[in-house]
Amino acid sequence: MSDGRKKVFGILTSGGDAPGLNAAIRGVARTAIDCFGMRVIGIRDGYRGLIDGNASELFDADFSGIISRGGTILGTSREKPFKNKTIDIETGKTAVEKIKANYRKWGLDALVVLGGNGTMTTANLLAEEGLNIIGVPKTIDNDIAETDISFGFHSAMSVATEAIDRIHTTAHSHNRMMIVEVMGHKAGWLALYAGIAGGGDVILIPEIPYNAEYVAEYILKRKKAGKQFSIVVVAEGAMTEEEAKLDKKEFKKRRKEMAGSIGYRLASELSTITGLEPRVTVLGYIQRGGTPAPYDRTLATELGSFAANMLATERYGEMVAIQGGRILGVPLHKVAGKTKKVPLEHPMIQAARDLCTCMGNSF
Ligand code: F6P
Repeated sequence: MSDGRKKVFGILTSGGDAPGLNAAIRGVARTAIDCFGMRVIGIRDGYRGLIDGNASELFDADFSGIISRGGTILGTSREKPFKNKTIDIETGKTAVEKIKANYRKWGLDALVVLGGNGTMTTANLLAEEGLNIIGVPKTIDNDIAETDISFGFHSAMSVATEAIDRIHTTAHSHNRMMIVEVMGHKAGWLALYAGIAGGGDVILIPEIPYNAEYVAEYILKRKKAGKQFSIVVVAEGAMTEEEAKLDKKEFKKRRKEMAGSIGYRLASELSTITGLEPRVTVLGYIQRGGTPAPYDRTLATELGSFAANMLATERYGEMVAIQGGRILGVPLHKVAGKTKKVPLEHPMIQAARDLCTCMGNSF
């Protein structure tokens, strides 16, 4: 800086937490403080803290001992400032106006936001409002566009795989059909990878709508062949062939009417057709909580440190990404509003089919 003033940046984590967030925060902050002499303002609870002005300066020591810790030391929320139409009674300002006022009040040169799809969509809108923004991708769902992988995914895959392994042994002992419901929002990455790693017999993902008759037939065939148990891994966003034909509104309505989550509905469908009694395990938040896997810690550190270098060179309006093993910046507008789904020609789908894993339909 020509005036000798230290550069100041704000940092926040937004959306569902993911293992590796603390490693990424540390990666950004340590590089920015130690290599570039910057100051860091830690903003609490995602965009909510940015609206409410809930933040404080953080120092080198605040980032000690956090690389192995799950969750986020900054807290998070699913606050969407551009959808929040509330006008503050005291200031008469909207959420976005309050954000801009706080950004100026704190003297920020830039804002680093760590988050998933929704977070990047908001980040892009803030960039359009004139704020200097750098995005860092995190999610257990691995569904952020323009990056091959996001941190959090490997940790969640390990947890889900271990759970499937454990379910495998009890399924074997009891000759049971076991249904394991895995997170992933509208994408099937987590179910596909954990399903394959855990040796799932049936893997159902949103990208391949399933036919319950076909799945049931596959399970009965296994039985006839002497395989008395079956492991069915289902993504939370999986849908039937019939549901796939519905428009967005009708689909949402149908889902709201559904008693319990997809795992339970699938159990009821398969039980009616096969006469078997499946057991359901919904893995839920254990996939997001706890210690980050070493891969996520290293990826988060690399992405975080790259973000700090972008701060130093004033490369704004971009999200750090990894493509073909290379770390780079991609324009936020290319990420905003998109969901990276599993392509139908993905080699992992092909591998699953080659192994005669049932993917929910016959083609
Ligand atoms: O995006 C991560 C994720 O865990 C998804 O897999 C899941 O659909 C969603 O968040 C759950 O959201 P919430 O924390 O708001 O219940």
